[in-house]
Amino acid sequence: MNDYYLVKKTDKLEGTVQVSGAKNSVLKLMAAAILIPGVTQLSNVPDIADVRLMQQVLESLGVKVSWPEAGTVRIDATTLSSHKAPYELVAHMRASTAVLGPLVARVGLASVALPGGCAIGSRKVDMHIAGLESLGASCRIEHGYIEVEAPEDGLKASDVTLEFPSVGATENLILAAVGAQGTTVVSNVAREPEISDLIDFLITAGVSIEGRGTTKLLIEGAATNKLQGGFTHKVVGDRVEAGTFLAAGALVGGPVTVTGFEAEHLSIVLKKFREAGALTEVLDNGVRIERSGPLKAVSIQTLPFPGFPTDMQAQFMALMSVAQGASVITENVFENRFMFADEIARMGADIRIEGHHALVNGVPELSGAPTVAPDLRGGASLVLAGLVARGETRVAGLQHIDRGYENFEQKLRSLGAQIERVA
Ligand code: UD1
Repeated sequence: MNDYYLVKKTDKLEGTVQVSGAKNSVLKLMAAAILIPGVTQLSNVPDIADVRLMQQVLESLGVKVSWPEAGTVRIDATTLSSHKAPYELVAHMRASTAVLGPLVARVGLASVALPGGCAIGSRKVDMHIAGLESLGASCRIEHGYIEVEAPEDGLKASDVTLEFPSVGATENLILAAVGAQGTTVVSNVAREPEISDLIDFLITAGVSIEGRGTTKLLIEGAATNKLQGGFTHKVVGDRVEAGTFLAAGALVGGPVTVTGFEAEHLSIVLKKFREAGALTEVLDNGVRIERSGPLKAVSIQTLPFPGFPTDMQAQFMALMSVAQGASVITENVFENRFMFADEIARMGADIRIEGHHALVNGVPELSGAPTVAPDLRGGASLVLAGLVARGETRVAGLQHIDRGYENFEQKLRSLGAQIERVA
């Protein structure tokens, strides 16, 4: 696909935009539905490429997935016909590994292709595997697949401490522990809002979980055939999509109001926007941002929630590239997540990368250039940079942006952005 965005310098960005449900939540909720031998529905579902891919992963397992209306996905996992997630699908989306835990909990077996190298770092699965093994599963890598098998008498609860609060490993362990006998205690878990959303979904299905939102979870195992479907769960609003539009507002000036998410899920990002010179107002269901004074340089470092999200690092760098002064952006969560920086540099930004630090010297203005999105958030960052760059910016590589943003250019255009998609 050779589509690209043509972005022109935009002098005014103003209005209200509503975000969709969170990509990083819905993918795991779809995987969690595998646990439930019945029908569940998800609402507030973004129609993005990753969701369509997860639909295919579920269908490859024999789960029936349909869209009764826009934004609603119906998942019927009454019967499963396979425990194998094929390479052709997993290779395109690392989040497919989320089916490991629920498959082994429900049918005692899982065979999931090892995700390939990823543009933003090697992204290992060692903690996912260690977590499943702690519940008694045997795991081996064979022919490029992670093969997991529960003992004959089933998974057993255990006390586990994660080495690092990995989002994916926390989720896989929660989902596997649902099928274990006894109460699993997991410490040093990730606390991202999407994990709380997953816990809410499981509690509605009849699982007993304590510690939501804290670093320690107690998950009571349940026979999966006792779990109840027949409910609709609304996917939590996408804080990263919200943060992207708020960054656009801070960059161009606003006022921009972003609704459909919870401000507390972006606390530290809002604090950094304010330090950079923006005014933010927390509303019932979102945030309003505007800026009239100059943009000031602010340093950030990415950390697990509630720290500054790695998924907002690239967008923040777009802001810093035209701020007054020098900032240091430190990426602690992923290796190799600065690839987009070379592209913004081609637009005139002054960025020097040293290991996992980016030293950004703000310049008065960027100049439009042809660019290629190297990954999802890096691509969004290039679009933001294009809004304040003199002339025209082309952003190619839209397959990355399509993975995670629903109607991105339409939403930006509704705020007055000069952006069009060219086929
Ligand atoms: C999820 C999000 C991603 C976000 C990230 C961190 C989804 C679909 N993706 O990714 O958007 O940027 O959380 O908030 O929800 N690691 C290991 N071994 C493991 C697992 C992870 O070394 O077994 C490392 C990774 O390589 C990475 C770090 O831990 O450097 C964080 O990864 P993790 O929190 O697991 O992120 P994901 O779940 O992959």
